Amino acid sequence: MTQNNRIMKSTILFAQSYGQADVLDFLTQDLPILVSGMARIKVKASGINPIDARRMTGEFKHTPLPQTFGTEFAGIIVEVGSNPNGWSVGDEVLGSGGAFTHATIIDVPIANLVARPQPINWEVVGTIAGAAQAAMTILDEIGKVDSLLTHGASGGVGSITIQLAKERGIEVVATASAKNQDYLKKLGATPVIYGEGLIDRLKEIHPTPFEASIDMSGTEEATQTSLQCVKANGFIGSIAGKRLSSPRVQAVWVKRSPTNLKYVVDGIADGRFTWEVDSNNIYPFEKAAEAYTNILKGHTRGKSVLIFNE
Ligand SMILES: NC(=O)c1ccc[n+]([C@@H]2O[C@H](COP(=O)([O-])OP(=O)(O)OC[C@H]3O[C@@H](n4cnc5c(N)ncnc54)[C@H](OP(=O)(O)O)[C@@H]3O)[C@@H](O)[C@H]2O)c1
Repeated sequence: MTQNNRIMKSTILFAQSYGQADVLDFLTQDLPILVSGMARIKVKASGINPIDARRMTGEFKHTPLPQTFGTEFAGIIVEVGSNPNGWSVGDEVLGSGGAFTHATIIDVPIANLVARPQPINWEVVGTIAGAAQAAMTILDEIGKVDSLLTHGASGGVGSITIQLAKERGIEVVATASAKNQDYLKKLGATPVIYGEGLIDRLKEIHPTPFEASIDMSGTEEATQTSLQCVKANGFIGSIAGKRLSSPRVQAVWVKRSPTNLKYVVDGIADGRFTWEVDSNNIYPFEKAAEAYTNILKGHTRGKSVLIFNE
């Protein structure tokens, strides 16, 4: 599409083979004419999620090559197609998009957009969509319970799941490594260190069975612990997207919902929820390979983000 008679270009992160972060490369290409119902966004920040790095390694071999990456973004509208539905050039927005948001300019369905509340930094707004919608999905699927055990809760999804659960009046006991115990407490959970002896530690802290559990770590320890610590017929779920060793565990898949996303964004803007993007986890787009290598280690606290300069 031309804007001011200028062909717009986007630089995208892509990979032609599966592997570690050295398969990642950049490609600059012309953008097509923007179609009706879409907005063209200059990306300012885009969260990195474990799914991006797991697709990179080929864990999900059904992803065709070459492949692009990124499922969330925040940025500025530079063009809108017909049927703009109230959106204009210059509006600051955030939202989700399927595996293409790690790029300088992206085209996104207008229906996916949520307005950026001004008080929130770009590096925060760019990381909210995936984890927020995953957490809302988890709690909607769990339904009304009084107690919840969360495994691997100090990462992106866990951090907001704890806060949303607390808001619903649910008692949360959450696992993480020793270094993240204070962080879990600050979010409102009773923290427990995962690893050998976990079941005994949980039974000491919470002698009665939990009404539900959710696993973000994908470990066998989490599955076996939930089977022993959740009441009969209680909800046992996993959002980790890993092979499940027990039919009792229900796989949970994120449901996209701009309404749910806006709920969390508003809560961050008005201070009801905290959202951590550690300064060590903020990477310029050019350093995407470093960011992907780091998230693959599986110990990110809060969120990681790519930022885009002019
Ligand atoms: N199915 C879906 O639709 C969907 C949607 C979103 C995310 N996901 C998946 O859900 C998982 C969590 O996502 P995320 O963004 O929260 O990941 P993340 O930010 O990387 O966090 C993972 C957390 O797991 C903890 N952890 C690492 N090893 C552990 C172990 N052995 N036992 C217990 N906890 C452990 C880490 O805490 P410590 O550093 O303290 O060890 C870390 O905070 C990922 O696998 C992601 O791909 C799936």
